[in-house]
Amino acid sequence: MELFRLENIKKEYKNGEESLKVLKGISFTISDGDFVSIMGRSGAGKSTLLQIIGCLDAPSSGKYFFDKMPIHDFDDDQMAEIRNQKIGFVFQSFYLLPYLSVLQNVMMPMEYSNISLNERRERALHWLCRFQIDHRKDYLPRQLSGGEKQRVALARSMVNQPKLLLADEPTGNLDLKVRDEVIKVFHSLNEKEKTTIIMVTHDDELGKMTPRTINLRAGLLND
Ligand SMILES: Nc1ncnc2c1ncn2[C@@H]1O[C@H](COP(=O)(O)OP(=O)(O)OP(=O)(O)O)[C@@H](O)[C@H]1O
Ligand SMILES: [Mg+2]
Repeated sequence: MELFRLENIKKEYKNGEESLKVLKGISFTISDGDFVSIMGRSGAGKSTLLQIIGCLDAPSSGKYFFDKMPIHDFDDDQMAEIRNQKIGFVFQSFYLLPYLSVLQNVMMPMEYSNISLNERRERALHWLCRFQIDHRKDYLPRQLSGGEKQRVALARSMVNQPKLLLADEPTGNLDLKVRDEVIKVFHSLNEKEKTTIIMVTHDDELGKMTPRTINLRAGLLND
């Protein structure tokens, strides 16, 4: 079953007179249950592409169908709804809220759901455990190392049980042992919970661990 499809997606950033063409016509299809890595050099457009897939940004042109819905025709509110209901996002720079504890940060995405406070705590703790960072639940983000923040961001992305997990360099700050543990959790999410996962990475070895790889080069697919 198709989960989403990109058709000739282009993205251009305008800075006054100058314009920068970052994505130059990207087309591919992702099926339910896929586990894909997106690779490419710094500046190739990986984060830009991920933000479009994550309904955080709109393409300059092209079509994007998610669950057969034409996202390219959606307004900001409609995009936000898809994002909140179906997509978990781990950003390259984690965006943890500095004045909230680890636990509160992970509970955040459930704020607007009708889940009870107890259940929200339980779920947040479950994911903190799964990424082995529950012992830091009462810390503030500034008291964490880069790799610890990364694991908190991973836990936060999962609490709403998204259908699609988008992760931008999710292991960039982790040592090899923790990296391999995170990848194990990803594999188990993908196999047991059928979460579709798209992961941006610079790490060749990590790219080889996923069944499918998409290579981006200067805004185009390089298959
Ligand atoms: N909001 C923006 N306004 C203008 N230019 C932007 C904007 N966001 C990204 N760019 C430019 O688009 C290009 C691609 O950026 P992007 O963040 O997608 O790269 P990336 O492949 O994720 O790189 P990295 O591996 O370093 O994270 C870069 O040259 C960047 O400067
Ligand atoms: Mg990036």
